[in-house]
Amino acid sequence: MDREPLILAFCCHYCAYAAADLAGSMRLQYPQNVRVLRLPCTGKIEVNYLLAAFERGVDGVIVAGCLEGGCHFLEGNLRARQRVARAKELLQEIGLEPQRLEMFNLSSAEGGRFAEIVTTMVQRLNHLGPSPLRHASFNPEPGHPLAGRGSATAQGDHLGPGPLPADAQQIEHALETMSQQAQAALAGEDRHDCCRS
Ligand code: FES
Repeated sequence: MDREPLILAFCCHYCAYAAADLAGSMRLQYPQNVRVLRLPCTGKIEVNYLLAAFERGVDGVIVAGCLEGGCHFLEGNLRARQRVARAKELLQEIGLEPQRLEMFNLSSAEGGRFAEIVTTMVQRLNHLGPSPLRHASFNPEPGHPLAGRGSATAQGDHLGPGPLPADAQQIEHALETMSQQAQAALAGEDRHDCCRS
């Protein structure tokens, strides 16, 4: 890849986000290509959130939740794994490598593992090359799953698609907006709703 890949990490507050924080506190060295979006639980992940991240031009997406059996909302991470699997199928259908999306489980004490996960994904994405959606010229044919989604925002889709970004700075801005929308949406919801199917 002729430039560094950009990764969005959806991290559970209780484990992966804490592990990322710990990695920073321990001053562990890992690529700075990752932007972290904190969720109360990975059970909040919806398939369209994952696709929206790719639509905004990120090269890869990480979903990082608690260890299996350790989710604070019991089955949130199991539901997230199912949604990640579904999103991988959709990525394959639209011509993106499903390996650009991966779910990991880790504990809050595993700062080193968080660093390893980011390093692994950066290496993988360097091998795959840049996401074709990162180019502003991406213009899907009618009938393509992403066609016509440039400006529409479905009701209830808090992370709904926006304009495709042209470069990393625009992607950063799009991710910041996405993060603010997510936090605003989550702030108004009951945390115990995290494990709904
Ligand atoms: Fe961490 Fe559910 S609380 S994945």
